[in-house]
Amino acid sequence: MCGIVGYVGKTLDGKAQNVVMEGLARLEYRGYDSAGIALVTESGVETEKRAGKLENLRSALEAHPLHDSRTGIGHTRWATHGGPTDGNAHPHRGGKGDKLALIHNGIIENFHSLKKELLAEGVEFRSETDTEVAAKLVGAEFDAVGDLTTAMRNVVNRLEGAFTLLAVHADVPGVVVGARRNSPLVVGLGEGENFMGSDVAAFIGYTRHALELGQDQIVTITPDSHSVINFDGSPAEGKAYEVTWDASAAEKGGYDSFMAKEIAEQPDAVANTLLGRTKDDGELVLDELRISEDQLRNVDRITFVACGTAAYSSLVAKYAIEHWTRIPVEVTLAHEFRYSDPIVDDRTLVVSVSQSGETMDTLMAVKHAKELGALTLSICNTQGSTIPRESDAVLYTHAGPEVAVASTKAFLAQITAAYILGLYLAQLRGENYADSAKVLMTELREMPAKIQDVLDRMDRVVEMANFMADTRSVLFLGRHVGFPIALEGALKLKEIAYIHAEGFAAGELKHGPIALIEPGQPVFIVVPSPDSPHELHKKVVSNIQEIRARGARTLVIAHDGDEDVVPFANEIIRVPQCSPMLAPLLTVVPLQVFALHLAMAKGLDADQPRNLAKSVTVE
Ligand code: G6P
Repeated sequence: MCGIVGYVGKTLDGKAQNVVMEGLARLEYRGYDSAGIALVTESGVETEKRAGKLENLRSALEAHPLHDSRTGIGHTRWATHGGPTDGNAHPHRGGKGDKLALIHNGIIENFHSLKKELLAEGVEFRSETDTEVAAKLVGAEFDAVGDLTTAMRNVVNRLEGAFTLLAVHADVPGVVVGARRNSPLVVGLGEGENFMGSDVAAFIGYTRHALELGQDQIVTITPDSHSVINFDGSPAEGKAYEVTWDASAAEKGGYDSFMAKEIAEQPDAVANTLLGRTKDDGELVLDELRISEDQLRNVDRITFVACGTAAYSSLVAKYAIEHWTRIPVEVTLAHEFRYSDPIVDDRTLVVSVSQSGETMDTLMAVKHAKELGALTLSICNTQGSTIPRESDAVLYTHAGPEVAVASTKAFLAQITAAYILGLYLAQLRGENYADSAKVLMTELREMPAKIQDVLDRMDRVVEMANFMADTRSVLFLGRHVGFPIALEGALKLKEIAYIHAEGFAAGELKHGPIALIEPGQPVFIVVPSPDSPHELHKKVVSNIQEIRARGARTLVIAHDGDEDVVPFANEIIRVPQCSPMLAPLLTVVPLQVFALHLAMAKGLDADQPRNLAKSVTVE
């Protein structure tokens, strides 16, 4: 939620504005209900801010251009305190003569009491935001101490909650100061210019040299320097790293939407996540794991914590890891974990799954798990983000930057990482149940080509989406690993096409949901492969018959060669054959494509659905 950009260079020209606006465009996925910019120009700090998408800010800047500058900050907002209005948009101003401008991502939990104090002192507020409190405080501190870094430090120690703050001041024109607690901020290091951003996408067009900041740190950048201190004032150093992808990865590259591009990138997302995980003889190696083999052998329970799509990839993980390792696995929504008095000890492995690595609910669950003594492992797509840093170990997914709010390629990469983890544990503990890790790893390496095969067959799914544009409700059914896929199919449709959709375990149908079936009701059914254990396939075919008998329109996702479904399917979407446990990597793809094209048929912006944000950094 909320995207933040900062820039400082040497030349007084239009570059600061351009860098900030380009950065905001790349970060707009983080929030898009209003946007604003502050530039330090020869006449002081000039700001412009507008409710609505970035386009509105762009038009306002064209109508009333700001002066040349070499320092700027910008913000794209997802409202928490105060509605999405021009007035509540960031930056907010503070200090004598309003010389300070400040932007914020997160929530300042004690802002009420701080605001009360300030009001009692006669300070006037122009917005309903928690942010303006920080702006007034840092502004007043600067007036008292004359140094922006010190002013920021004196204030952050009074704030509670989660925040990234960036500030500029008219009296120190070549300086941007940033601070972070439980909220993202990375530094970009250039030649004679430096950057800050909520993530590296903000400045990837200019530099790939990045600096990761720790928790509770303040960073000060000038064109030629950067310095980091802890909130207690002690010196600190960021961790430098190179960004491995370039600007084109964060652009649409000829696709209509980021979501379309990211769906198309799924074969690569899976292939890259598999890269480098096995030795020549097929044995799995996980270098990024900072948990000892003995500790992992000792694990007697695994708990996954995640939100949204990542929670559904965790559900797939449960089936696979329990089957391969016989370790009990549970999946808890991260926001429920913390408050459920979870049973966790030093033999519990708590696995968090997060594309962004910044989801506040998931971060808090990880912290709570650590307090309880658990081993924590993060499956994450964003290098240098908070959750992997807070965890004992990390298994990075290598899906590349995901920009569309609705997650697609990260989901497949998360499932892939979970398979790797499960097979690794199975290999390590010598309890590989029923399947052999090496055989499955070999099959996993064939999955990118099979995913591409599914993508190449999507014409009929696109047609279906186009003629179903006025559909009001769609149901999704699945069993075993098909159940999380049914949930994910429904989530995609809700998120981007605003259609009422529900996913059910197919066996649960007869216990209630079947009452929803009336003539013409579209129902997607994710059918397991015919060689699934426990007659799973037969049971799902019976479920299809039950709903078809009640008039449902059955949209069946089935493997090549499965003829049993033919008599009961209104539509059949075929996917290649594969081991039953790996099928989610294929069966979810038509559901993603369906949701995207239905949203497009309704004229909706699939990349930026209403009310949502990609990275939810508030609880
Ligand atoms: C938000 C997004 C979802 C995403 C979830 C978890 O709700 O809209 O698409 O699945 O957060 O995000 P994470 O970055 O932790 O995977």
